[in-house]
Amino acid sequence: MRDVSQPLLFETSWEVANKVGGIYTVIKTKVPVTVQEYGDRYHLTGPWNRFSAHVEVEEIEPENPAIKAAIDSITAQGIQVLYGRWLIDGAPRVILYDIGSAAYKLDEWKGDLWRVAGIPSPPNDTETNDSIIMGYLNAWLFDEVAKHDTEHAIIAQFHEWQAGIGAVLCNKRKIDVATIFTTHATLLGRYLCAGNVDFYNHLKYFNVDEEAGKRGIYHRYCIERAATHCVDVFTTVSNITAYEAEYLLKRKPDGVVPNGLNVVKFSAMHEFQNLHQVAKERINHFVRGHFYGHYNFDIDNTLYFFTAGRYEYRNKGIDMYIESLARLNGRLKACNSPITVVAFIIAPAKVNSFTVETLKGQALIKQLEDTVEEVSSRVGKRIFEMALRGKEPRVEDLLTDQDKILLKRRVFSLKRDSLPPIVTHNMVSDHEDPVLNQLRSTHMFNNEDDRVKVIFHPEFLNANNPVIGLDYEEFIRGTHLGVFPSYYEPWGYTPAECTVMGVPSITTNLSGFGCFMEDNIVNPQDYGIYIVDRRLKSPEESMEQLASYMFDFCQKTRRQRINQRNRTERLSDILDWKRMGVEYMKARQCALRRCYPDSFDDAGVFGSAYDEDDEHEKLSRPQSIPGTPLIGADLSTYDLAALSISAELPGVKNQDDDHDLRPPIQLKMKTPLMTPTIQ
Ligand code: UDP
Ligand code: G6P
Ligand code: GLC
Repeated sequence: MRDVSQPLLFETSWEVANKVGGIYTVIKTKVPVTVQEYGDRYHLTGPWNRFSAHVEVEEIEPENPAIKAAIDSITAQGIQVLYGRWLIDGAPRVILYDIGSAAYKLDEWKGDLWRVAGIPSPPNDTETNDSIIMGYLNAWLFDEVAKHDTEHAIIAQFHEWQAGIGAVLCNKRKIDVATIFTTHATLLGRYLCAGNVDFYNHLKYFNVDEEAGKRGIYHRYCIERAATHCVDVFTTVSNITAYEAEYLLKRKPDGVVPNGLNVVKFSAMHEFQNLHQVAKERINHFVRGHFYGHYNFDIDNTLYFFTAGRYEYRNKGIDMYIESLARLNGRLKACNSPITVVAFIIAPAKVNSFTVETLKGQALIKQLEDTVEEVSSRVGKRIFEMALRGKEPRVEDLLTDQDKILLKRRVFSLKRDSLPPIVTHNMVSDHEDPVLNQLRSTHMFNNEDDRVKVIFHPEFLNANNPVIGLDYEEFIRGTHLGVFPSYYEPWGYTPAECTVMGVPSITTNLSGFGCFMEDNIVNPQDYGIYIVDRRLKSPEESMEQLASYMFDFCQKTRRQRINQRNRTERLSDILDWKRMGVEYMKARQCALRRCYPDSFDDAGVFGSAYDEDDEHEKLSRPQSIPGTPLIGADLSTYDLAALSISAELPGVKNQDDDHDLRPPIQLKMKTPLMTPTIQ
């Protein structure tokens, strides 16, 4: 009988030390709370991306004899494995496989996958081939660990379909581990929504095999569906995706594990406001360069809006964002608003390089700055000399003819005939690009009289970028409003990240995050979380609502914006893994109980609050803190003390910290499990 009080935990994903999208954020930010609970019994497994692992992972020797033996058994067959510490908060142990070094086994494993699980795998799908290799290596590892360590219970949690094969094999080979499969989306959901389908109204009626076949993803769908049905516990990241999974994957999730963040609190109360100002100055600098020659707007009355994420034009609601920006432009012009909005779109597309115009703008601004500095220093010296000789400096004597000519040349070089560009890079398919085409059809060309200017940056941001030169996080801080009107968004980290940095954002009631906020907070709008209704409203109405939210935001005074940021930032504790991580604990506990029922007695080892007879029920309510409208009171459903995790709740810590003297944030009472109806 395995000891369930000190289980080993393996979490596996394609995005371990390998950034692709939001799953990387889940894995990385959750590490500190998981390490706090599991210490060295926690391992993450994934692909060995030499480029990122080189800087992110420090190689060490495995200490646990079972894990060492398991790795030795794999490497003995010529497969390369990196064992080390991932150099992030919590420094977890990672086991990374060199997928290429195991490629010689691919055909054998593909055949086996067909024989044991009936899962087909076409020849040229590299992503699937890589997933098969990772799945077989994971199963190999877990099997060896389970054979060498028969004392401890073992939990393996698999994230997303790419990690699903390991889960299928654990089941087929009867490997003695408790398994959890967590989907962060469904394959079919993502594909169907991207293709202009009335998704939510037809969810119950799709012929899933046929739809997957039509889209050439039948084999991937098989992996996802098999993993869903082969595990002890199946979870997903939001209620809306749970609903979708029930129909598309044909299993109702046992629970929802919403995504958290590793919230960093500053000791100085308003530090995040100062950081906003500093980062905004950096964006101002870029904007001055970008709009050279047409810099006719007041930078002090300029607001920065942005959307960011993987380039899923319809799913991420980029289409709705652009249309609403065009409407906002019309409204601001009509009311002669003093406000200018610079709206960024940050979504990686196929590009060649920065455009010459983009680089030139930044170079010209730099030149002008240098010249002004040079001239000012000469003027300073002249004033000093004159004052020293007892002469009162006269303005006309301060600039020499040479200075004037130099300045004039700089001013002339800032003239240009063309409009400021809307895209910062040379696009590989400029004429087919949906964002550029929509900007063209809505006439968003950065004309002088436009009150909404647009900048499409088709690459993720990073500090080494010669144009914006800010990390994504710093960039968010400098902006005023994040706009994420997603149609398909199982969770959506982007608005959540804005929230913890005190930046208001717009989301929708089709995103996991939007629904979570709507379910939990009374009047989320008061806290800078605007939720566009894309469920009951027509697209036209949703667009109008989005445009109105943005327009109303433009009416705010600076003082109101500062107050709103303070309120937004107060929500961050709600999103902290210290709180959200509890749902992962419940899922693991449930998996242990299902896999090793004989190891539990009535008292339970921990988490005795679980009701063993109603496992579906016990995992299905992640959202509300029940029983009281005020935060900071009732944590009775979460046996936090027993799990040695402390939870600090919003409204408690910062209540008096800002100028906003509102009462603590109000959480909602329990709401029934959502069943979305979409119009
Ligand atoms: N992101 C980033 N750089 C950018 C824009 C986005 O690193 O310039 C990250 C962002 O921090 C977030 C992730 O990309 O954590 C996107 O996650 P989300 O859950 O919003 O969407 P997904 O891509 O998983 O569908
Ligand atoms: C922060 C800074 C203030 C600054 C303000 C600008 O709160 O601490 O010094 O005035 O940001 O806010 P705005 O919304 O106009 O960028
Ligand atoms: C997926 C979803 C996204 C979610 C992320 C992390 O990639 O598209 O909405 O936030 O996973 O769970």
